[in-house]
Amino acid sequence: MAKLELIKGDITKLKVDAIVNAANSLLQGGGGVDGAIHRAAGPGLLAECKTLGGCPVGEAKITSGYNLLAKFVIHTVGPIWHGGGNNEEHLLAGCYKNSLGIADNLKLKSMAFPNISTGVYRFPKELAADIAIKQVQDFTKKAEFLKQIIFVAFDEENYEIYREKLKS
Ligand code: APR
Repeated sequence: MAKLELIKGDITKLKVDAIVNAANSLLQGGGGVDGAIHRAAGPGLLAECKTLGGCPVGEAKITSGYNLLAKFVIHTVGPIWHGGGNNEEHLLAGCYKNSLGIADNLKLKSMAFPNISTGVYRFPKELAADIAIKQVQDFTKKAEFLKQIIFVAFDEENYEIYREKLKS
């Protein structure tokens, strides 16, 4: 059974098999955690991303980690929040499910998630946390190789939300 952990901090500093990037569908970098990961990984990350042909919302693609401590980066594209009537919840669940599936298929043992879609994409933090925790908990019941899954909160609000939810 994989262990779920919560930390507050910068995902680019983690020495895990894979960190998940909250990217956009072009996979050409951006702001927020996407920008931080590309800055820390160096130009090789963008060069590899350019060979992937983008990524649909709710799906995920993997690259090397380059100068990051993490071996791999799993780029997933979260939904932009438009009020909840555009299948946003299902798409966000897919980001977690597909990222977990890629990691477990590659027999990775540890991975870390940022709070996907809760920044620029304005997805409500509480609802996003419920989706994230449910998808990860469901996956750990059948995960073959993943032993450590870390939720990384960059801001205090997300950290408190996850802390409360993971306690209960
Ligand atoms: N480590 C961990 N989490 C971080 C970091 C970091 N270094 N930097 C930002 N975050 C957090 C934000 O505080 C937020 O909680 O990541 C979460 C996701 O926010 P965004 O990075 O804005 O991502 P998202 O809301 O999914 O929007 C994606 O923003 O940066 C662009 O190219 C990206 O177009 C895409 C969009």
